[in-house]
Amino acid sequence: MSAAAEDALKRLVVDVSDYPKPGVVFKDITPLLADHDGFTAVVQALAAAGRDAAGNVVIDKVVGMEARGFMFAAPVALALGAGFVPVRKAGKLPRDTFSESYALEYGDATIEIHKDGVAPGERVLVVDDVLATGGTVAATRTLIERCGGVVHSVAVLLELTFLPGREAVADVPLLALEQV
Ligand code: PRP
Repeated sequence: MSAAAEDALKRLVVDVSDYPKPGVVFKDITPLLADHDGFTAVVQALAAAGRDAAGNVVIDKVVGMEARGFMFAAPVALALGAGFVPVRKAGKLPRDTFSESYALEYGDATIEIHKDGVAPGERVLVVDDVLATGGTVAATRTLIERCGGVVHSVAVLLELTFLPGREAVADVPLLALEQV
């Protein structure tokens, strides 16, 4: 990762204590989004997960998850010259979808992808802001595989290492720009 990306993550992802509930430290990415140079550096760092050692692009699509994942996945797709495919919360995509549910701390969540969002055989880079329990990434991977695609790698800004997120995608390369 470049020094510029490292510096941007340090300065522009801001800890907010007791949000959304007491005891939780929320990582606010909005200062990073508002800083053109910092945002660019971080997007380039995430995009490295879609290139081989020689710098060649080795993926066909970038998939991002609603909502904060969109903010990074779409510019990563542009940086790689690849298409962007949204994974959305249930009921938001207008055409035929695949649907996956997964457990949250309280209750569960359902996310969806258009059935033709990823074509059979396409290689996909999955981009999100945070990897926590890994539920979102694991369900996204299942959606991509139901389309016939293959997850090449996963890239996140931040991995919460006190949670077992990495285990949810243990057999896929994972790039985490920062670990806490
Ligand atoms: C957040 C985050 C990741 C997910 C990670 O999304 O953006 O997508 O949680 O958690 P997990 O690894 O435990 O699944 P969330 O849907 O909470 O919020 P958002 O709509 O603001 O992105």
